[in-house]
Amino acid sequence: MGNEKVGVIGCGAMGRGIIKNLVLGGYQVLAFDVNQQALDAVEQIGASPTSQKEDIFRQVDYLITSLPSPQLVKETISDALTFMKEGSYILDVSTTDVATSRTIFQQAKDKRIAFFDCPLSGGPEGADKGELTIVVGGDPDEFITVSPLLKVIGKEIEYIGESGSGQIVKLCNNIVVAGIITLLSEAFLTGVKAGVPATKIAEMMQKGSAQTKAMSIFGANLLDGNHENVKFMLQHMSKDIDLYMDLAKQEKIPTFFSASIEQFFTTAKNNGKGELDTSAVSQVLEELADSLIVPK
Ligand SMILES: NC(=O)c1ccc[n+]([C@@H]2O[C@H](COP(=O)([O-])OP(=O)(O)OC[C@H]3O[C@@H](n4cnc5c(N)ncnc54)[C@H](O)[C@@H]3O)[C@@H](O)[C@H]2O)c1
Repeated sequence: MGNEKVGVIGCGAMGRGIIKNLVLGGYQVLAFDVNQQALDAVEQIGASPTSQKEDIFRQVDYLITSLPSPQLVKETISDALTFMKEGSYILDVSTTDVATSRTIFQQAKDKRIAFFDCPLSGGPEGADKGELTIVVGGDPDEFITVSPLLKVIGKEIEYIGESGSGQIVKLCNNIVVAGIITLLSEAFLTGVKAGVPATKIAEMMQKGSAQTKAMSIFGANLLDGNHENVKFMLQHMSKDIDLYMDLAKQEKIPTFFSASIEQFFTTAKNNGKGELDTSAVSQVLEELADSLIVPK
């Protein structure tokens, strides 16, 4: 892999850790981001920042997109396909939707470029440690070629099936994580008002049948009422919930639970909490309950 060039578009919370591990894994990494601070940060860890995306598209064997919306992914890859060489690979690690993945897959295939939806789970910490869980959709024959690169950035790599399959798994995962955080918030409010500190409730949950990884990741923020420590931006989770609901509607699955979770997240976003951690959804429940998880 010594001379293989990887382009990364989007050097945010996830892109940064991915770049770090690609550099450690011996890849030559060319990076682009609209935010100069994000680019400066990845230069410090060994990537070559590039001001023109086209320079990246022309040179690389692999292109990774880690972007905040399906629209940006579509625009960026449509642009990339004009310049990338035949036989190269595109890995979209953003969380998008099935239709976006399948449209890009076909456009790329027409240019003899293999496209994979490779959404991630494990957060910025998992990205930093190279321990992400990655679910992959795309051509199974081409997967063999991209697998070594994915193993550099992730620990659990699972090929799911045809294009879009990775996104299906990821959207189902995230609606459950969003639901757990919302329900934890409600349960903590109830337990605290009834007389037991949330820290004690959480401790016993993690030793019992309510144990969750969502609690391990987002619990500290819920329990100290500080949502500035961003593990996963609330506006990104809100986007994923909307994408999940579109999928459920398309498949004609009733959305009683996800619809109420969506209401909490939309309210949180409308109240200016979009750039806080996902755990900030608890503040909407606190306001409705006129009560606090961490009483003052
Ligand atoms: N943070 C997580 O825990 C997590 C986990 C799994 C999946 N994801 C998904 O990964 C993707 C990225 O998430 P993140 O948390 O790294 O987001 P982020 O907001 O931290 O990073 C996104 C980066 O993209 C850059 N960007 C925006 N528009 C751009 C453009 N047109 N061209 C180039 N760069 C552009 C931004 O400046 C930013 O640096 C999202 O789709 C998200 O849903 C995030």
